Amino acid sequence: MKPLTLGIAGIGTVGGALLNLLDTNGSHFSRILGRDIRVTGVSARTRNKQRDALVKGATWFDDPVALAKDPSNEVFVELIGGDSGIVKEAVEAALKAKKHVVTANKALLAKHGIELAQLAEANGVALNFEAAVAGGIPVIKTMREALGANRIRRVYGILNGTCNFILTKMQSEKRPFDEVLKEAQALGYAEADPSFDIGGFDAAHKLALLTSLAFGTRVAFDQIHVEGITSITEADIEAADSLGYRVKLLGVATETDSGIEARVSPALVFKDSAIAEVSDVTNAVAIEGDFSGSILLVGAGAGGNPTASAVAGDILDIARGLVVPPFVTPSAKLKDHKRAPLDRHYGSYYVRLALVDRPGAMAGIAKSLGDQGVSLESIVQHRPQTLHAPRSLPQRTSDGAQPVIIITHETTEAAMRKALATIETDGNVTEPPQMIRIEEL
Ligand code: HSE
Repeated sequence: MKPLTLGIAGIGTVGGALLNLLDTNGSHFSRILGRDIRVTGVSARTRNKQRDALVKGATWFDDPVALAKDPSNEVFVELIGGDSGIVKEAVEAALKAKKHVVTANKALLAKHGIELAQLAEANGVALNFEAAVAGGIPVIKTMREALGANRIRRVYGILNGTCNFILTKMQSEKRPFDEVLKEAQALGYAEADPSFDIGGFDAAHKLALLTSLAFGTRVAFDQIHVEGITSITEADIEAADSLGYRVKLLGVATETDSGIEARVSPALVFKDSAIAEVSDVTNAVAIEGDFSGSILLVGAGAGGNPTASAVAGDILDIARGLVVPPFVTPSAKLKDHKRAPLDRHYGSYYVRLALVDRPGAMAGIAKSLGDQGVSLESIVQHRPQTLHAPRSLPQRTSDGAQPVIIITHETTEAAMRKALATIETDGNVTEPPQMIRIEEL
């Protein structure tokens, strides 16, 4: 059988790892596929000797669009990144030329996934993007194939390695946010602009794709509620720890009676839950199928080799002749994404307040919450030298206010927001309240 030919655009961390993988495991592919996989064309921003050595035998293209159109390759592998411009042009050109496309580009798919899927389907080719969600974890193939017989009820997970790394290190090594972020950047986990990571947008791109796959809806990045981790302080991490929780940045998409609730936000999870154990740069995705029950996939969500593994898996599917609609449901049959109002979210909440130190302040807080029907599970006000508060809870703030941690019983987000709006303005706190959802997973 003739070799499968690839044109690879982008030779950065992932592209370099892919070239190495194809070289290292080439004979394995010949054996399992009965055909070779050959890189016939490459393109990258800069050409140098090191790169030339990596791609010996392949034709060099300065222009990725020219590579995408070139008939010497059947599969266009897009590893450049970015959601528009030349990248979109190159992917469109490849699909129009009836070439299969493999990409790791979550931003491009979150923004233009449906139009690109339509183009792929119209041309009878694959648009595979396993590497776009949770790096090396085969979540898309799991949802598309292994769990394909199920109706998915909920999908959630830790979808950003950089944030998980930061939160883990802040907790376990008691190190400040900025310092750990720098380490994540040095290790190559973070996006070129790390605000995509810490602002929650990288995870939201991935959640937008998972939501579409789970519920058969059109990709709708703008319908995802996004909160990052920049508001999380060491005080939150310590307080959560004292009360039996870990803080995680979670992406959660649930189909409810009022639509799809899809959000990326910090969450408290019980320390003994499986997801709490997922630490450092590791990602995890849980998929709840109506017949399968809950499946949890855990693995490396970033880094060259794991991401290259996912890209190569997509290439193997093409080598075997497997072509399915990119979002499983044919794009003409995808439903519109109807967003559930977040105000209807029902759950427990963690609240951290900087309470002014005067009689009646706590009573005022309790009244504001009570007025909205919010019932409290616990309140911990740290008073130095008392036995009632865990030792590790935050000390007084610099303005003399006392940190108070509240855990509520289940209530609606609307009630919480109203209560906290009153608390913020009634003079009993010195800074805006911190509110974090508690997820029972
Ligand atoms: N910056 C991403 C992360 C890389 O930290 O998870 C993979 O998308």
